[in-house]
Amino acid sequence: MGVPTVLVADDDRSIRTVLTQALGRSGYQVRATASAAMLWRWVEEGEGDLVITDVVMPDDNGLDLLPRIRRVRPELRVIVMSAQSTLMTAVKAAQRGAFEYLPKPFDLTELLAVVARALAVSAPIAAPDAEPRDGEEKLPLIGRSQAMQEIYRTIARLTTTDLTVMVNGESGTGKELVARALHDYGRRRGGPFVAINMAAIPRELIESELFGHERGSFTGAHNRSQGRFEQAAAGTLFLDEIGDMPPEAQTRLLRVLQEGEFTSVGGRQPIRANVRIVAATHRDLRQAIRAGQFREDLFYRLNVVPIRLPPLRERAEDIAVLARHFLERAREQGLPAKTLDQGAVDALRRQRWPGNVRELENLMRRLAALTPQEVITADVITAELAEPAAEEGAGEAGSPRDLGQAVERHIRHMLSGSADGIPTRDIYDQVIAEVERPLIRMTLSATRGNQIKAAEMLGLNRNTLRKKIKDLDIPVVRGIG
Ligand SMILES: Nc1ncnc2c1ncn2[C@@H]1O[C@H](COP(=O)(O)OP(=O)(O)OP(=O)(O)O)[C@@H](O)[C@H]1O
Ligand SMILES: [Mg+2]
Repeated sequence: MGVPTVLVADDDRSIRTVLTQALGRSGYQVRATASAAMLWRWVEEGEGDLVITDVVMPDDNGLDLLPRIRRVRPELRVIVMSAQSTLMTAVKAAQRGAFEYLPKPFDLTELLAVVARALAVSAPIAAPDAEPRDGEEKLPLIGRSQAMQEIYRTIARLTTTDLTVMVNGESGTGKELVARALHDYGRRRGGPFVAINMAAIPRELIESELFGHERGSFTGAHNRSQGRFEQAAAGTLFLDEIGDMPPEAQTRLLRVLQEGEFTSVGGRQPIRANVRIVAATHRDLRQAIRAGQFREDLFYRLNVVPIRLPPLRERAEDIAVLARHFLERAREQGLPAKTLDQGAVDALRRQRWPGNVRELENLMRRLAALTPQEVITADVITAELAEPAAEEGAGEAGSPRDLGQAVERHIRHMLSGSADGIPTRDIYDQVIAEVERPLIRMTLSATRGNQIKAAEMLGLNRNTLRKKIKDLDIPVVRGIG
């Protein structure tokens, strides 16, 4: 190949100019056009060694051109750029065989690096997979911030692989949603998506939950039971809150990942593991490794492709579209239609959102249900958020005072009948249980299920603790403590 020729199609003239100059300086020949039809003609005539195309052009859509280009020139690499960067565009570009997808505005240095990479590799590109359901489908993930676009690109790239993914992010940032998107757009989408939450299962039961157990393998195992690994066969296994996995289970999981097969608890017959693993945690696993709480070797097995979901406060530009999306969803579910004025949006953007997207979602539902007027203004938002704001200033999160205020707020909602779905009956028991349940559950988790130690820490009589565990339906394993 002499000097490689790059075909550029974009109806934005300034982009054509910038690309022509930059590519020219890097020693490429460039042909640029504003028309998809012209691009198609060049491709058909055998011109060009690489295509860079926009998605929306006046005469045609760059994404629709992709399958046609691949049919006539399967070796020709196509880089897709788009200002309409949604998860769907990114996924479609990947599935239609684009070499790379760049959301606009792009970084010129990055683009040149991609161009060099595209021209360097000459192996035929793997055939794209069949596409998922097409059309104006509802997007699972909302937000077009730079950070989210990076995430869409990563998800899109992963649609054609089975690589293990580790999703990290604060609570409520959308980790589970990302795990589902990886499944729904990936090549295992025909199989099951099975989730297991390590923080919600008593440690003694985790192995049985994961790998199943044989009849009689431990007290209470009356029947053979399938584990999640088996249930997720040919699909995706979502290991949620992986940072809370107890050490023995970590060791066992590591072995399974290394050997590619597992045996059920009490079983002998090895079963081949056929799952794609997506793990998630809000913890800093590197720190957990340093503290001796998480196996480093397991971490590297799982952290093949890390995806970090930024907290909502770091992508304030997504707040308005998310808020409107949640109001719309509330309306679809039968709540009155509401709109946000600019002042309200500004007020939302000033918040810290410790609970991230989930917190915003809950606020929007509450506002949809409670605000009398149709247009939500800044005052409404400020009033609704006033207490948490005051509370934040009042002391460190986690202080007893903080707890008291949180409880107070909760009760006020209950009494006004405003908290979603909470009946205003048996309030005393409900509130006490609300506090007792996490208190006992977390103390038990801190003592690794040891009830004697937990009773000591709580300052409770052992039998009292037992009874509470039973009454509150806190999962725990018999025979411990
Ligand atoms: N980008 C997004 N677009 C639309 N909805 C979102 C987005 N991110 C999160 N959500 C919604 O916010 C809520 C919380 O998301 P999700 O359960 O995935 O968070 P998470 O990170 O798994 O939280 P946790 O750590 O508490 O388990 C869900 O109702 C989800 O649908
Ligand atoms: Mg989650």
